[in-house]
Amino acid sequence: MPECCDPDDYQSVFSGRFARRQTKRYQRRGLTPAAQGIADFVASRGIERATVLEIGGGVGQLQVELLRRGASHVTNLEISQNYEAEAARLLDEAGMTDQVTRRFLDIAQAPDEVEPADVVVLHRVVCCYPDYAALLTSAAGHARKAMAYSHPAANAINRAQFGTENLYRWFTRNDFRVFIHPPQGMVRTAESEGMTVAFRRHARDWDVVGLVR
Ligand SMILES: C[S@@+](CC[C@H](N)C(=O)[O-])C[C@H]1O[C@@H](n2cnc3c(N)ncnc32)[C@H](O)[C@@H]1O
Repeated sequence: MPECCDPDDYQSVFSGRFARRQTKRYQRRGLTPAAQGIADFVASRGIERATVLEIGGGVGQLQVELLRRGASHVTNLEISQNYEAEAARLLDEAGMTDQVTRRFLDIAQAPDEVEPADVVVLHRVVCCYPDYAALLTSAAGHARKAMAYSHPAANAINRAQFGTENLYRWFTRNDFRVFIHPPQGMVRTAESEGMTVAFRRHARDWDVVGLVR
């Protein structure tokens, strides 16, 4: 892996504490509005018996919802290994352990090691990865029917917040960075893999894009 994507950086940022916070938030308040947008779009395209590939799924709250709505199986790809205890607990409580395969793999680096799926989702992931073109090319290339991703809206508030976060990491000698990638560039990348935009939703500070093949 290039220096920009050192798994140790992801391990330190996406820690067990981060995982527990995500689970607690989900159990108290359900999906975030952006994640809800992804679930709504995917369901509108027909999720019944579909296979799902979730890239950077964290503890797996979105995939639990997609399975509830009728998906047959989810493969989750992660770089951080710190989500596993929380993910296992969520799946156990939902009775869905057998429907999810969890792997540690960066699809942008190893696209050939991942099977295609009917639906590919990435929620709050592209902003944690420097090379959006490589990530979304691989993601779209694995989507048989539909793909949806969320990204931070390219506005002044998000730019200030992401800039401050990166400055803090630079001061604390952590090489992990967050990114506000160009929205049109991301869409063009997915389009170049044969997909067409079919859905857009603005949800608080996040934008959701849904595409179909
Ligand atoms: C902000 S977290 C979001 C986790 C989850 N989707 C959520 O919304 O709670 C971003 C996650 O994406 C993962 N990630 C980033 N790039 C990835 C890649 N190329 N392959 C797999 N996981 C990736 C990171 O490890 C991290 O866990």
